[in-house]
Amino acid sequence: MLSWEEFDEKEKETQLVKPKQYKKEQKAPVSTTVKEEKEQPRVALSVGNSTNRLERAKKAIEQFDQQIGEEALEGMGSRVDVDQKAMINCRADVNQLVPFKYDWAWQKYLDGCANHWMPQEINMTADVALWKSDQGLSEDERKIIKRSLGFFSTADSLVANNLVLSIYRHITNPECRQYLLRQSFEEAIHTHAYLHVIQSLGMDEAELFNMYREVPSVARKASWALDFTKELDNPNFKTGGLEQDKKLLRNLIAFYCVLEGIFFYCGFTQILSMGRRNKMTGTSEQFQYILRDESMHLNFGIDMINQIRLENPRLWDEEMQDQAAGMILQGMELEIEYAKDTMPRGVLGMNASMMEEYLNYIANRRLVQIGLSEEFPNAENPFPWMSEIMDLRKEKNFFETRVIEYQTGGALNWD
Ligand SMILES: [Fe+2]
Ligand SMILES: [Fe+2]
Repeated sequence: MLSWEEFDEKEKETQLVKPKQYKKEQKAPVSTTVKEEKEQPRVALSVGNSTNRLERAKKAIEQFDQQIGEEALEGMGSRVDVDQKAMINCRADVNQLVPFKYDWAWQKYLDGCANHWMPQEINMTADVALWKSDQGLSEDERKIIKRSLGFFSTADSLVANNLVLSIYRHITNPECRQYLLRQSFEEAIHTHAYLHVIQSLGMDEAELFNMYREVPSVARKASWALDFTKELDNPNFKTGGLEQDKKLLRNLIAFYCVLEGIFFYCGFTQILSMGRRNKMTGTSEQFQYILRDESMHLNFGIDMINQIRLENPRLWDEEMQDQAAGMILQGMELEIEYAKDTMPRGVLGMNASMMEEYLNYIANRRLVQIGLSEEFPNAENPFPWMSEIMDLRKEKNFFETRVIEYQTGGALNWD
């Protein structure tokens, strides 16, 4: 692999053409009125309607060619060597998808696309009848449905915004970016799915969409995650230094391992348990589709975190390991609080202390997945049926085993 110095030299020779400054004597492009030369566009923009627009377009292209065209035709930067590719702080051209370096990222992109689905495809008729009926759902079950929809309806927007506004520009690998784009769209579909359920059931939209600010057990989870996105949102934030790179890594751990890897678990388990009891089956099916996507998001995030650790061992010092483990345990504590709030007593064949044990088990798993030690050696999974759906079959990631391949298009297939 080239050293940074060698790479810089090579890049200078072959870098993409930079915009030329206009020469003093050269006139600004047609019809521009901007005074500062450096602000001039490379191609003259067409304004006014007095002369022939096509003629002006041709002239603009001629002018563009004179300014930068020759250089551009000589060479649009160098071809990417696979060894130049890296997860973060990479200077190789991010517009060239191939050659692939991380096959797991591309495979997950393909798997995600093979799983495409839309919320309107799921029949909500039975749910509407049950929700509007006085019988069939207990008050505790109704509370669980509302809390789940309240938390998830905004949580997926938090994830999507973090992906697009904070993470994307710092992950400097095109095959990973390809997956991040797919994941972003899936998060939009998930938010759509929650809205679809809320509207189908005729719920109070404002109440549900404001829960992440108004209901403490929901709000604490949301604001915990938002804390890790603040600095990265800043357009001036750049990776490259030790502390900045650690901030990015902490963001990835917060969103993938904790928000998507712990905060989703109580609500998913509750709603899927409801579906297993033949209640709110449409809602439960929506959650199953989402869960399948989320398992992939989690796996991708863990692969990404581990690849960054592998390529940047200096980031994974004792302090960082301690912080990462602490974050996973904090997330687990917040999810246990959420379980207590949503299950003040036993419901749907489970209770808060069973959920606590499950979350110990999940926290162990997240710790091990990013190379840390288990915290709860005796924790067992009280919901093996969840494990069957998620942990054992769909949570396999690149660093554990080969990726599960989906070949069933958008249809659910847990076998
Ligand atoms: Fe999602
Ligand atoms: Fe997700």
